[in-house]
Amino acid sequence: MSKELIRLSNCTMAFDGEIVLDNINIYFNDKEFLTLLGPSGCGKTTMLRIIGGFLKPTSGDVLFDGVRINDVPPHKRTVNTVFQKYALFPHLNVFENIAFGLRIARPDGKKIKEEEIRERVLEMLEVVSLKGFEKRSVSSLSGGQQQRVAIARALVNRPKVLLLDEPLGALDLRLRKDMQNELKRIQQAMDITFIYVTHDQEEALTMSDTIVVMDKGVIQQVGTPEQIYNEPKNAFVADFIGESNIVDGNMICDGEVEIFGKRFKCLDGGFEPNEPVDVVIRPEDVDIVPLKEGMLTGLVTNITFKGVHYDIIVDFKGFKWLIQTTDYCPIGSKIGIKIDPDGIHVMKKSKYSGMFGDYSSYSAEYDEISDVDYTAEDEQTEEEWHED
Ligand SMILES: Nc1ncnc2c1ncn2[C@@H]1O[C@H](COP(=O)(O)OP(=O)(O)OP(=O)(O)O)[C@@H](O)[C@H]1O
Ligand SMILES: [Mg+2]
Repeated sequence: MSKELIRLSNCTMAFDGEIVLDNINIYFNDKEFLTLLGPSGCGKTTMLRIIGGFLKPTSGDVLFDGVRINDVPPHKRTVNTVFQKYALFPHLNVFENIAFGLRIARPDGKKIKEEEIRERVLEMLEVVSLKGFEKRSVSSLSGGQQQRVAIARALVNRPKVLLLDEPLGALDLRLRKDMQNELKRIQQAMDITFIYVTHDQEEALTMSDTIVVMDKGVIQQVGTPEQIYNEPKNAFVADFIGESNIVDGNMICDGEVEIFGKRFKCLDGGFEPNEPVDVVIRPEDVDIVPLKEGMLTGLVTNITFKGVHYDIIVDFKGFKWLIQTTDYCPIGSKIGIKIDPDGIHVMKKSKYSGMFGDYSSYSAEYDEISDVDYTAEDEQTEEEWHED
């Protein structure tokens, strides 16, 4: 069983009267890789700074191991931070950059012996896969190597929690992917808690034990990557985590939902009879079948080759879905679709209902750059189709 380490209890943060974190209640477990995920400005960095002790919440409590730490300054918390702009000391070599935190005066006035410093720095270099780099000047290192030095510098003090604020933001995509795996490995090797901030959903899904999805200073959902992806709480989460078609539905009864006037089996329940709901259908969960076997039929308005699959945009009664398929479906063709019960996810209506999940604009964008030729045989305009 994981043990609770940090808790934010009824935490609100306001700047000049404007609330940027709204009554946050959340706990972070020991030895967990936890990610704060959300769009720019949703309050991720603010939450991290409260945990690190750089900000005091306007109201509410911060607890560490059950003890209130609102008034404990950053250097007295067993928490360390890696920022996006990690600012290594350019005049010090790799060894001295990492040793820096061990050389500064302790609160108890004691100094760490040179021998121990050396041992701990070398151990850290090994953890971040930079063995043999100790004499190198930091300016001679690549971006990824510098990032590893910054992580080693933060870990050498043996914090119980490492806070990482978009630490891979400055790296190119390839290096980012490598470092994602590295960070996960380092977290497991050190066996401590990582609280990681990103606005990149794929990064969050790849690395985290737990994801906290935020929007506008409010936590929208907390869960494992699988829970967040497969059982999003509302249209915001469904849209933010991966591609989603989100349509209006009516919950007929447990296990049965009506979409576009057709009834579909699903696995969800616990709604009022005939309750209006939001229904999420992921692009990869839609099967294309011959027209007469289709639960619904639609008109392909766009196709884009993506390497492993095609992205097709399909018009169902004026509502455009994104479907991913390995079958080539030319523009203008009519297709039937089938969705298995576990491909349908029913959500309560929320303030985000109707805001996301329609691919009409996506289609317009892709019309311009579509790289698949227009090859429909019995082509039909969208207008004609709607008149059918
Ligand atoms: N010191 C401050 N004074 C006034 N407003 C602030 C201050 N710090 C943050 N804010 C505001 O609080 C909100 C949340 O900011 P925060 O930096 O936590 O967002 P974020 O989720 O980290 O965004 P990003 O992904 O862009 O880094 C923003 O609207 C920001 O302008
Ligand atoms: Mg930020």
